[in-house]
Amino acid sequence: MPVTTTALTVIGLGPMGQAMTRILLAAGHPVTVWNRTPARADALVETGATRASEPAAAVTASELTILSLTDYQAMYDILDPIEDLTGRTIVNLSSDTPERTASAADWVAGRGGHLVAGGVMVPAPMLGTDAAYAYYSGDPDAFRRWEPVLRLLGSTRFLGADVRLAQLFYLANLDVFLTTLASMLHAAALIQSVGGPVENALADLYEHVQLIPSIIGPSAELAADLVGGSHPGELSTVTMMGATAGHIVEASVESGVGRGLPDAIKNLYDAATAAGHGGDNWTSLFEVIKAEHRKQAGVPTGL
Ligand SMILES: NC(=O)c1ccc[n+]([C@@H]2O[C@H](COP(=O)([O-])OP(=O)(O)OC[C@H]3O[C@@H](n4cnc5c(N)ncnc54)[C@H](OP(=O)(O)O)[C@@H]3O)[C@@H](O)[C@H]2O)c1
Repeated sequence: MPVTTTALTVIGLGPMGQAMTRILLAAGHPVTVWNRTPARADALVETGATRASEPAAAVTASELTILSLTDYQAMYDILDPIEDLTGRTIVNLSSDTPERTASAADWVAGRGGHLVAGGVMVPAPMLGTDAAYAYYSGDPDAFRRWEPVLRLLGSTRFLGADVRLAQLFYLANLDVFLTTLASMLHAAALIQSVGGPVENALADLYEHVQLIPSIIGPSAELAADLVGGSHPGELSTVTMMGATAGHIVEASVESGVGRGLPDAIKNLYDAATAAGHGGDNWTSLFEVIKAEHRKQAGVPTGL
Protein backbone atom coordinates (compact mmCIF):
# COMPACT_ATOMS: atom_id res chain seq x y z
CA MET A 1 0.00 0.00 0.00
CA PRO A 2 1.50 3.41 -0.87
CA VAL A 3 2.34 5.36 2.24
CA THR A 4 0.03 8.25 1.33
CA THR A 5 -3.05 6.10 1.86
CA THR A 6 -1.86 4.35 5.00
CA ALA A 7 -4.22 4.68 7.95
CA LEU A 8 -2.77 6.72 10.83
CA THR A 9 -3.84 7.55 14.36
CA VAL A 10 -3.24 10.76 16.30
CA ILE A 11 -3.94 10.90 20.04
CA GLY A 12 -3.75 14.26 21.81
CA LEU A 13 -5.42 17.14 20.05
CA GLY A 14 -3.91 20.26 21.51
CA PRO A 15 -2.65 22.81 18.96
CA MET A 16 0.13 20.40 17.93
CA GLY A 17 -1.99 17.27 17.49
CA GLN A 18 -4.62 19.26 15.60
CA ALA A 19 -2.02 20.72 13.22
CA MET A 20 -0.50 17.25 12.68
CA THR A 21 -3.89 15.74 11.92
CA ARG A 22 -4.69 18.43 9.38
CA ILE A 23 -1.37 17.91 7.60
CA LEU A 24 -1.79 14.12 7.48
CA LEU A 25 -5.37 14.44 6.20
CA ALA A 26 -4.25 16.92 3.54
CA ALA A 27 -1.66 14.37 2.37
CA GLY A 28 -4.42 11.84 1.81
CA HIS A 29 -4.11 9.65 4.89
CA PRO A 30 -7.19 8.33 6.64
CA VAL A 31 -6.63 9.62 10.20
CA THR A 32 -8.31 8.29 13.34
CA VAL A 33 -8.21 10.66 16.31
CA TRP A 34 -8.89 10.46 20.03
CA ASN A 35 -8.68 13.14 22.70
CA ARG A 36 -9.55 13.11 26.39
CA THR A 37 -11.71 16.18 25.86
CA PRO A 38 -13.81 15.00 22.91
CA ALA A 39 -14.82 18.47 21.67
CA ARG A 40 -11.26 19.13 20.56
CA ALA A 41 -11.80 16.57 17.78
CA ASP A 42 -14.97 18.19 16.41
CA ALA A 43 -13.41 20.45 13.76
CA LEU A 44 -11.05 17.66 12.65
CA VAL A 45 -13.94 15.26 12.16
CA GLU A 46 -15.60 17.88 9.95
CA THR A 47 -12.37 17.95 7.90
CA GLY A 48 -12.42 14.17 7.42
CA ALA A 49 -10.85 12.58 10.50
CA THR A 50 -12.52 9.60 12.15
CA ARG A 51 -13.30 9.93 15.85
CA ALA A 52 -12.48 6.84 17.92
CA SER A 53 -14.77 6.15 20.85
CA GLU A 54 -11.89 5.11 23.10
CA PRO A 55 -8.07 4.89 22.98
CA ALA A 56 -8.06 1.13 22.19
CA ALA A 57 -10.18 1.71 19.09
CA ALA A 58 -7.84 4.52 18.02
CA VAL A 59 -4.68 2.44 18.45
CA THR A 60 -6.04 -0.63 16.68
CA ALA A 61 -7.18 1.46 13.70
CA SER A 62 -3.57 2.00 12.50
CA GLU A 63 -0.10 0.48 12.70
CA LEU A 64 1.24 3.93 13.60
CA THR A 65 -0.07 6.01 16.48
CA ILE A 66 1.32 9.51 16.98
CA LEU A 67 1.02 10.88 20.52
CA SER A 68 1.03 14.63 21.13
CA LEU A 69 0.49 14.99 24.87
CA THR A 70 1.58 17.18 27.77
CA ASP A 71 3.99 14.53 29.08
CA TYR A 72 4.66 10.79 29.15
CA GLN A 73 2.39 10.20 32.16
CA ALA A 74 -0.49 11.06 29.82
CA MET A 75 0.70 8.22 27.54
CA TYR A 76 0.40 5.72 30.41
CA ASP A 77 -2.99 7.15 31.41
CA ILE A 78 -4.25 6.61 27.87
CA LEU A 79 -2.53 3.39 26.74
CA ASP A 80 -2.43 1.42 29.99
CA PRO A 81 -5.64 -0.54 29.29
CA ILE A 82 -4.22 -1.70 25.92
CA GLU A 83 -2.13 -4.74 26.84
CA ASP A 84 -1.16 -5.85 23.33
CA LEU A 85 0.78 -3.45 21.10
CA THR A 86 2.34 -6.19 18.95
CA GLY A 87 3.64 -4.84 15.65
CA ARG A 88 2.52 -1.30 16.41
CA THR A 89 4.69 1.79 16.43
CA ILE A 90 4.10 4.60 18.88
CA VAL A 91 5.74 7.89 17.89
CA ASN A 92 5.57 9.96 21.03
CA LEU A 93 6.09 13.66 20.30
CA SER A 94 5.44 14.74 23.90
CA SER A 95 7.91 16.55 26.11
CA ASP A 96 9.42 14.80 29.14
CA THR A 97 12.75 13.84 30.67
CA PRO A 98 15.20 11.52 28.87
CA GLU A 99 15.01 8.87 31.62
CA ARG A 100 11.20 8.79 31.62
CA THR A 101 11.39 8.44 27.83
CA ALA A 102 13.72 5.43 28.18
CA SER A 103 11.32 3.81 30.67
CA ALA A 104 8.47 4.38 28.24
CA ALA A 105 10.41 2.63 25.45
CA ASP A 106 10.81 -0.43 27.71
CA TRP A 107 7.12 -0.27 28.63
CA VAL A 108 6.00 -0.19 24.98
CA ALA A 109 8.46 -2.97 24.06
CA GLY A 110 7.10 -5.05 26.94
CA ARG A 111 3.72 -4.93 25.20
CA GLY A 112 5.21 -5.93 21.83
CA GLY A 113 5.35 -2.44 20.30
CA HIS A 114 8.09 -0.07 19.13
CA LEU A 115 8.65 3.42 20.52
CA VAL A 116 10.15 6.29 18.58
CA ALA A 117 10.50 9.47 20.66
CA GLY A 118 10.45 12.87 19.04
CA GLY A 119 10.66 16.55 19.81
CA VAL A 120 9.11 19.06 17.42
CA MET A 121 11.17 22.23 17.14
CA VAL A 122 8.57 24.66 15.78
CA PRO A 123 5.19 25.87 17.08
CA ALA A 124 2.00 24.39 15.65
CA PRO A 125 1.37 27.07 12.96
CA MET A 126 4.83 26.40 11.46
CA LEU A 127 4.38 22.62 11.29
CA GLY A 128 4.61 21.31 7.72
CA THR A 129 6.50 24.40 6.48
CA ASP A 130 10.05 24.37 5.13
CA ALA A 131 11.24 25.73 8.49
CA ALA A 132 9.78 22.80 10.46
CA TYR A 133 11.98 20.06 11.85
CA ALA A 134 11.87 17.51 14.63
CA TYR A 135 14.38 15.31 16.44
CA TYR A 136 13.74 11.58 16.61
CA SER A 137 15.45 8.67 18.31
CA GLY A 138 14.61 5.13 19.29
CA ASP A 139 13.79 1.99 17.31
CA PRO A 140 15.67 2.56 14.00
CA ASP A 141 13.57 0.14 11.93
CA ALA A 142 10.34 1.67 13.14
CA PHE A 143 11.69 5.16 12.43
CA ARG A 144 12.76 4.21 8.88
CA ARG A 145 9.39 2.53 8.25
CA TRP A 146 7.46 5.66 9.20
CA GLU A 147 9.86 8.41 8.18
CA PRO A 148 7.93 9.29 4.98
CA VAL A 149 4.90 10.09 7.14
CA LEU A 150 6.93 12.00 9.74
CA ARG A 151 8.54 14.05 6.96
CA LEU A 152 5.12 15.51 6.18
CA LEU A 153 5.33 17.33 9.53
CA GLY A 154 8.81 18.71 8.91
CA SER A 155 12.31 17.54 8.15
CA THR A 156 13.57 14.73 10.37
CA ARG A 157 16.76 14.65 12.43
CA PHE A 158 17.24 11.06 13.56
CA LEU A 159 19.74 10.79 16.42
CA GLY A 160 20.05 7.01 16.71
CA ALA A 161 18.77 4.09 18.74
CA ASP A 162 19.22 5.71 22.16
CA VAL A 163 15.65 6.87 22.71
CA ARG A 164 16.75 9.54 25.22
CA LEU A 165 18.61 11.58 22.63
CA ALA A 166 15.61 13.18 20.92
CA GLN A 167 14.34 14.43 24.30
CA LEU A 168 17.81 15.66 25.26
CA PHE A 169 18.21 17.65 22.02
CA TYR A 170 14.65 18.97 22.34
CA LEU A 171 15.24 20.05 25.94
CA ALA A 172 18.65 21.53 25.06
CA ASN A 173 16.98 23.74 22.46
CA LEU A 174 14.18 24.65 24.85
CA ASP A 175 16.76 25.42 27.55
CA VAL A 176 18.13 28.18 25.34
CA PHE A 177 14.69 29.19 24.02
CA LEU A 178 12.96 29.52 27.39
CA THR A 179 15.89 31.33 29.00
CA THR A 180 16.11 33.75 26.07
CA LEU A 181 12.37 34.47 26.16
CA ALA A 182 12.41 35.05 29.91
CA SER A 183 15.48 37.29 29.72
CA MET A 184 13.84 39.31 26.95
CA LEU A 185 10.80 39.92 29.16
CA HIS A 186 13.06 40.83 32.10
CA ALA A 187 14.92 43.32 29.91
CA ALA A 188 11.65 44.84 28.68
CA ALA A 189 10.45 45.17 32.30
CA LEU A 190 13.68 46.98 33.22
CA ILE A 191 13.19 49.45 30.35
CA GLN A 192 9.53 50.00 31.23
CA SER A 193 10.33 50.55 34.92
CA VAL A 194 11.92 53.92 34.07
CA GLY A 195 9.30 54.76 31.43
CA GLY A 196 11.66 53.79 28.61
CA PRO A 197 10.55 52.94 25.07
CA VAL A 198 9.83 49.19 25.22
CA GLU A 199 9.17 49.01 21.48
CA ASN A 200 12.58 50.46 20.56
CA ALA A 201 14.30 48.32 23.15
CA LEU A 202 12.73 45.14 21.83
CA ALA A 203 13.77 45.97 18.26
CA ASP A 204 17.35 46.31 19.53
CA LEU A 205 17.10 43.09 21.56
CA TYR A 206 15.93 41.12 18.50
CA GLU A 207 18.97 42.47 16.65
CA HIS A 208 21.23 41.57 19.57
CA VAL A 209 19.98 37.97 19.76
CA GLN A 210 20.83 37.50 16.08
CA LEU A 211 24.29 38.96 16.65
CA ILE A 212 25.17 36.50 19.43
CA PRO A 213 26.56 33.72 17.17
CA SER A 214 28.96 36.20 15.54
CA ILE A 215 29.99 37.49 18.97
CA ILE A 216 30.78 34.08 20.45
CA GLY A 217 32.25 32.62 17.25
CA PRO A 218 31.75 29.38 15.34
CA SER A 219 29.97 26.61 17.25
CA ALA A 220 32.69 24.09 16.35
CA GLU A 221 35.33 26.29 18.04
CA LEU A 222 33.16 26.80 21.12
CA ALA A 223 32.51 23.05 21.29
CA ALA A 224 36.25 22.31 21.04
CA ASP A 225 36.96 24.71 23.93
CA LEU A 226 34.19 23.26 26.11
CA VAL A 227 35.07 19.64 25.44
CA GLY A 228 38.80 20.33 25.84
CA GLY A 229 38.29 22.32 29.05
CA SER A 230 40.14 25.27 27.56
CA HIS A 231 38.90 28.80 28.30
CA PRO A 232 41.32 31.21 26.66
CA GLY A 233 40.68 34.86 25.94
CA GLU A 234 41.13 38.19 27.64
CA LEU A 235 38.30 40.10 25.98
CA SER A 236 35.38 38.63 27.92
CA THR A 237 36.70 37.50 31.26
CA VAL A 238 34.63 36.13 34.13
CA THR A 239 35.60 39.22 36.19
CA MET A 240 34.33 41.66 33.55
CA MET A 241 31.17 39.74 32.65
CA GLY A 242 30.48 38.95 36.33
CA ALA A 243 30.60 42.66 37.22
CA THR A 244 27.96 43.35 34.58
CA ALA A 245 25.87 40.43 35.84
CA GLY A 246 25.99 42.12 39.26
CA HIS A 247 24.92 45.46 37.76
CA ILE A 248 21.86 43.80 36.20
CA VAL A 249 20.88 42.43 39.63
CA GLU A 250 21.38 45.89 41.20
CA ALA A 251 19.42 47.62 38.43
CA SER A 252 16.59 45.12 38.99
CA VAL A 253 16.56 45.88 42.72
CA GLU A 254 16.69 49.65 42.10
CA SER A 255 13.72 49.50 39.75
CA GLY A 256 11.68 46.89 41.63
CA VAL A 257 11.87 44.35 38.81
CA GLY A 258 12.16 40.64 39.68
CA ARG A 259 15.77 39.61 40.34
CA GLY A 260 15.50 35.81 40.19
CA LEU A 261 16.79 35.42 36.64
CA PRO A 262 19.81 37.77 36.87
CA ASP A 263 20.60 36.38 40.32
CA ALA A 264 20.93 32.89 38.80
CA ILE A 265 23.41 34.21 36.21
CA LYS A 266 25.37 36.25 38.77
CA ASN A 267 25.63 33.16 41.00
CA LEU A 268 27.38 31.30 38.17
CA TYR A 269 29.91 34.12 37.71
CA ASP A 270 30.47 34.32 41.48
CA ALA A 271 31.11 30.55 41.62
CA ALA A 272 33.52 30.74 38.68
CA THR A 273 35.40 33.61 40.36
CA ALA A 274 35.55 31.68 43.64
CA ALA A 275 36.97 28.71 41.73
CA GLY A 276 39.80 30.85 40.37
CA HIS A 277 38.43 31.52 36.88
CA GLY A 278 38.27 35.32 37.23
CA GLY A 279 40.88 35.90 34.52
CA ASP A 280 39.54 33.17 32.24
CA ASN A 281 37.06 33.47 29.45
CA TRP A 282 33.31 33.47 30.29
CA THR A 283 33.13 29.91 28.90
CA SER A 284 34.69 28.69 32.18
CA LEU A 285 31.16 28.91 33.64
CA PHE A 286 30.83 25.53 31.92
CA GLU A 287 33.10 24.05 34.61
CA VAL A 288 30.91 25.48 37.38
CA ILE A 289 27.76 24.14 35.77
CA LYS A 290 29.32 20.68 35.33
CA ALA A 291 30.61 20.67 38.91
CA GLU A 292 27.00 20.57 40.12
CA HIS A 293 26.48 17.42 38.07
CA ARG A 294 29.64 15.85 39.51
CA LYS A 295 28.50 16.77 43.03
CA GLN A 296 25.16 15.00 42.49
CA ALA A 297 26.98 11.96 41.09
CA GLY A 298 29.21 11.84 44.16
CA VAL A 299 32.36 12.66 42.21
CA PRO A 300 34.86 15.11 43.82
CA THR A 301 34.06 18.59 42.53
CA GLY A 302 37.54 20.03 42.16
CA LEU A 303 37.32 22.64 39.43
N1 LIG B 1 2.47 24.02 21.12
C1 LIG B 1 3.72 24.18 20.68
O1 LIG B 1 4.08 25.23 20.13
C2 LIG B 1 4.72 23.08 20.85
C3 LIG B 1 5.97 23.18 20.19
C4 LIG B 1 6.87 22.13 20.29
C5 LIG B 1 6.53 21.03 21.05
N2 LIG B 1 5.36 20.98 21.71
C6 LIG B 1 5.04 19.79 22.53
O2 LIG B 1 3.95 19.10 21.93
C7 LIG B 1 3.15 18.51 22.96
C8 LIG B 1 1.69 18.93 22.76
O3 LIG B 1 1.64 20.34 22.77
P1 LIG B 1 0.28 21.14 22.66
O4 LIG B 1 0.64 22.59 22.57
O5 LIG B 1 -0.60 20.57 21.64
O6 LIG B 1 -0.24 20.85 24.17
P2 LIG B 1 -1.63 20.98 24.91
O7 LIG B 1 -2.52 21.99 24.28
O8 LIG B 1 -1.26 21.18 26.32
O9 LIG B 1 -2.26 19.54 24.67
C9 LIG B 1 -1.88 18.49 25.44
C10 LIG B 1 -2.71 17.25 25.07
O10 LIG B 1 -2.43 16.27 26.06
C11 LIG B 1 -3.68 15.78 26.54
N3 LIG B 1 -3.49 15.29 27.91
C12 LIG B 1 -2.72 15.85 28.88
N4 LIG B 1 -2.76 15.08 29.98
C13 LIG B 1 -3.54 14.02 29.69
C14 LIG B 1 -3.95 12.88 30.42
N5 LIG B 1 -3.53 12.66 31.68
N6 LIG B 1 -4.76 12.00 29.81
C15 LIG B 1 -5.18 12.19 28.55
N7 LIG B 1 -4.82 13.25 27.79
C16 LIG B 1 -4.01 14.16 28.37
C17 LIG B 1 -4.62 16.95 26.45
O11 LIG B 1 -5.95 16.49 26.49
P3 LIG B 1 -7.17 17.53 26.80
O12 LIG B 1 -7.46 18.22 25.51
O13 LIG B 1 -8.27 16.65 27.27
O14 LIG B 1 -6.67 18.46 27.88
C18 LIG B 1 -4.21 17.49 25.09
O15 LIG B 1 -4.79 16.74 24.05
C19 LIG B 1 3.74 18.96 24.31
O16 LIG B 1 4.53 17.94 24.83
C20 LIG B 1 4.59 20.16 23.94
O17 LIG B 1 5.69 20.31 24.81
C21 LIG B 1 4.44 21.97 21.61
